Amino acid sequence: NLKRNLTTTGRRHTFASSGTHPFRTVASSSPSAPLPADRETSEDPPNPRAKSGGRLVVESSTSPRRQISEATVDTNRARVVLRVDTARYEFPVVWLRDNCQCERCFHGGSSSRVLDWERFDVDRVKVMQVRVVDSGRSLELVWGNEESEEGHRSVYGLEWLLKRSFKEEDTERYLKEWYRPEPIVWGVDGFGEVLREFSFDEVLRDDGALRQWIEALIAYGVVMIKGAPLTENECRRLADRVGFIRKTHYGEEFIVKAKEGTSNVAYLSTPLQMHTDLPYYDYKPGCNLLHCLVQSNNRVGGENLIADGFYVAEQLRHHYPDDFRLLSETLVDWSDLGSDEAGSFHSIYRAPVICIGRDGRLERINHSVPQRDSHFSVPIDRVEPWYRAMQRFVTILHREAVSFKTAPGDILTFSNVRMVHGRTGYTDTAANTRHIVGAYLDWDEIYSKLRVLKAASD
Ligand SMILES: [Fe+2]
Ligand SMILES: [Zn+2]
Repeated sequence: NLKRNLTTTGRRHTFASSGTHPFRTVASSSPSAPLPADRETSEDPPNPRAKSGGRLVVESSTSPRRQISEATVDTNRARVVLRVDTARYEFPVVWLRDNCQCERCFHGGSSSRVLDWERFDVDRVKVMQVRVVDSGRSLELVWGNEESEEGHRSVYGLEWLLKRSFKEEDTERYLKEWYRPEPIVWGVDGFGEVLREFSFDEVLRDDGALRQWIEALIAYGVVMIKGAPLTENECRRLADRVGFIRKTHYGEEFIVKAKEGTSNVAYLSTPLQMHTDLPYYDYKPGCNLLHCLVQSNNRVGGENLIADGFYVAEQLRHHYPDDFRLLSETLVDWSDLGSDEAGSFHSIYRAPVICIGRDGRLERINHSVPQRDSHFSVPIDRVEPWYRAMQRFVTILHREAVSFKTAPGDILTFSNVRMVHGRTGYTDTAANTRHIVGAYLDWDEIYSKLRVLKAASD
């Protein structure tokens, strides 16, 4: 019952059917969604959403109607305190000086700070005067105490300041909306709910579809794109729509067909154990694009297997914390030796199977039996416990894996830092071949594209 067949359960999903998607509320219905961070000017254009033709339109919480009713400096002269309607906001004086938006301090054309930091002295930053200007729409500060600061004035628009609020809930919201939206993890039973499908044509043509695909990829880690032409260039076209292909030592686009004398087990027709690609890269390619051109006719061969590695890691963290600790703290040697189009390679990178960030959040999963080195550079006592923990990880991984078969024209897109994937074996005869073209995209480019689309449409 682990099997879900895309051809029977696959539906054309849209975001309208999902109430749980983090972007759903942000993109269309949240009245408190902040506007894009405008770094070009310190003033925002008037909000067109106040009243139009007698019809009341939903007002944003960052509406220009909000006004600064009072601006003061705290007793240490370290923070400027603003009263905005009934709310209180504090901004560190040193941060305000650092972020002066005047032409001497900030170059609008390149959205860059040009303040001379060689002369920036935290202890000598001193605000001499605080004023509310522009009918409560802006804050003006006059600096002093240094000859070079004499008469230096900074003006900050209220909207600009509110978008950079230091309140915890505001920074959290900014990070979710503009830095990286949170993933929604899923186990085997959730797959039917999370799988989204998009049309290749629409993603290439329509910015809204492109954005929804990216949002689904971030949320669920795997998304299907249907209806790509059956030619070998389509992964490149999709990658170019986002940014550009991430090249590796296997080249830019790779062709997965059974081939003899191969440099990689993926090119064999035997089962391909569940893995993440290229764990031996420090900067591991972020996202896989796998375009199916010809699928094996064999009814039971050549199926894709995929599991949410973040979900598996969370299961481990919750139920087997010692195993989680071993897998997240033990550096494993990953390696790849061989030669391909780009010549000979000898890659090594050391990283845990479960990589977590400073905040404890999951960042990356590494798992590849063929590419886990026989060098295991850890204290000898660590070895057997690590193997036991790994065995547990693999057991849960298989329990939570789904399998399905892609059809010609499908491009399966999934996160290579989160999902663990594999393939069942197939019989490769003249009448039963399989032909897949793959390429990678990096997450930096995907997130960047999402922000560009979001800023243009919000
Ligand atoms: Fe792979
Ligand atoms: Zn300035």
